[in-house]
Amino acid sequence: MAELEVRMEGEWEHSHLHDVTSLTKNDVEKVLSLTERYFTLNRDGKKEHSILKGKDVLLFFMENSTRTRNSFDIAAQRLGARTFSVQKLGSSMQKGETLRDTIYTLHAMRPDAIVMRSEYSGATEYVAQYVNVPVLNAGDGWHAHPTQALLDLFVLFRAWKGDFSNRVVAIVGDTKHSRVARSNIHLLQKFGVAVRVCSPPTLCLHKEAFPGVLFFDDVTKAVEGVDAIIALRLQFERQEAGLVPREYYTVYGIQPSIVQHAKNTVVVLHPGPINPALDIDASFGDGTGHSKILEQVESGVATRMALLTLFLS
Ligand code: CP
Repeated sequence: MAELEVRMEGEWEHSHLHDVTSLTKNDVEKVLSLTERYFTLNRDGKKEHSILKGKDVLLFFMENSTRTRNSFDIAAQRLGARTFSVQKLGSSMQKGETLRDTIYTLHAMRPDAIVMRSEYSGATEYVAQYVNVPVLNAGDGWHAHPTQALLDLFVLFRAWKGDFSNRVVAIVGDTKHSRVARSNIHLLQKFGVAVRVCSPPTLCLHKEAFPGVLFFDDVTKAVEGVDAIIALRLQFERQEAGLVPREYYTVYGIQPSIVQHAKNTVVVLHPGPINPALDIDASFGDGTGHSKILEQVESGVATRMALLTLFLS
């Protein structure tokens, strides 16, 4: 058992986590601070805690996931909780059971929290009406991926040594279908970070919904002088046919030559999974050099430990 037990400081007034928009800057700073402590403990090999001993965390994933599901699972277990996992494939949803009846059923098994991913935007808010435990959004349709945005912010917090002033981030790729882009924009703007977006016209989010964002057509101009680049996956599962230009990678792909237009200290993030030679060069996948892709994965565990602590303890 780790000698240093991480305890929550101050009040946490949220019942659920649907998106980062419901969090104040002070709330996010609390998450960053607790994440930093868990990140250090994890790196020091102090991975066994008891703060959530006796709690059951349901991991309810209606869409595929490697990073989010497993990092929530590891996070909950490191805090002493038990986890049980339900996926759409293999569940009675395949026999036609509705989302509401599935939730009634799983809630009757008395979990202490529900971590949920769905292809439907707004699914966690829908589910939260029917349960009396925290619901944490692990990605819902095009809408939001709050825990990804929080872990991305933590990676930037470390890279910039906690100094968010005068920072510029370029988000490049399929922003239209990206819940990660939406949550990242909201969160970065909360910390005064300037956000640029570069997407093909067919894959660009609704510009009017994001005041303050600067939109670019040319990726080299978009990344000029930036502190960070967030490359996005082409979300083929949410796209209609014919939205991706044939020359997508040569025009919008994050290649090593593109990064040279940014600051020489630039960090490159991607939520994963990457489509090598489509949305980003395969060389970024090993997390070395400018790439923070594997540090994002590592931070995902610490961030989710922080969130489970805040919502459950
Ligand atoms: N970033 C992310 O959500 O990855 P997974 O789909 O693997 O969870």
